[in-house]
Amino acid sequence: MASMIRSGCGGRLASAAMDHGARSGPLPEPARKAEAVRRMFDRIAPRYDLVNRVMTFGLDVGWRRRAVAQLDLAPGSVVLDVACGTGDLCEALRAAGLRAVGLDYSEGMLAAAHTSAPLVRGDALAMPFRAAVFDGAVSGFALRNVTDLARAFAEMARVVRPRGRLALLEVGAPRSTLLRSGHDLYMRRVVPLIGGLLSDAGAYRYLPASVAYLPPTSRLVDMLGDAGFEDVRVQTLALGAAQLMTATRRTD
Ligand SMILES: C[S@@+](CC[C@H](N)C(=O)[O-])C[C@H]1O[C@@H](n2cnc3c(N)ncnc32)[C@H](O)[C@@H]1O
Repeated sequence: MASMIRSGCGGRLASAAMDHGARSGPLPEPARKAEAVRRMFDRIAPRYDLVNRVMTFGLDVGWRRRAVAQLDLAPGSVVLDVACGTGDLCEALRAAGLRAVGLDYSEGMLAAAHTSAPLVRGDALAMPFRAAVFDGAVSGFALRNVTDLARAFAEMARVVRPRGRLALLEVGAPRSTLLRSGHDLYMRRVVPLIGGLLSDAGAYRYLPASVAYLPPTSRLVDMLGDAGFEDVRVQTLALGAAQLMTATRRTD
């Protein structure tokens, strides 16, 4: 499915995730997940950035800047943005003097992208790149959407050169019970409301619910180690609402 894309057709695509959601909740079964998620992103692509800004109060912009800074790579380094969506992280990489390449499987998201970085349509589980061609990789809020996280991490390890850097942003859960309840309420009630007003309520019921696919942070750290990364560090952002994981590609 890999192809270079600079423009494309979003189109109105039926969402299997949402069809399923109408029956038994917003999470599709694993076997249907990849296709359902891809179609959902195709559909919400045109207003994805707007909803992101509104639902994070614009904080996501700073999180992306921080993820890029934590790569600590020399100017001109080439960095892959895995599951780049509309290219926000690509732009943050470029603003920091790095050379970005974006990869995503949603034609709609790539068509709605607002970056001049080269964008490649392809699967994060079978990346269309040779081994060790990137100085680093980043990914923003995509981990819970992939169907095989171990394979995605293995692919990241394959395409990043030894001593190359990794920075992954994901949603998190505040530790304090009070904050966690408020955060849960916001994700379950307010995010679908904002999503419904600006874009697609079903999709924005799926997105908070999809956190259920995400293993605990300690397990993610172990998985990154198994995939070939070392010096894995985790930072919590916005009182735990988001997390940033950084790591270095092992030399072996
Ligand atoms: C929540 S969006 C995040 C987009 C962007 N990284 C950001 O920070 O805004 C998740 C993205 O992951 C992409 N995605 C999910 N699974 C993928 C896969 N297996 N291969 C490529 N892209 C994938 C979706 O198409 C979507 O664009």
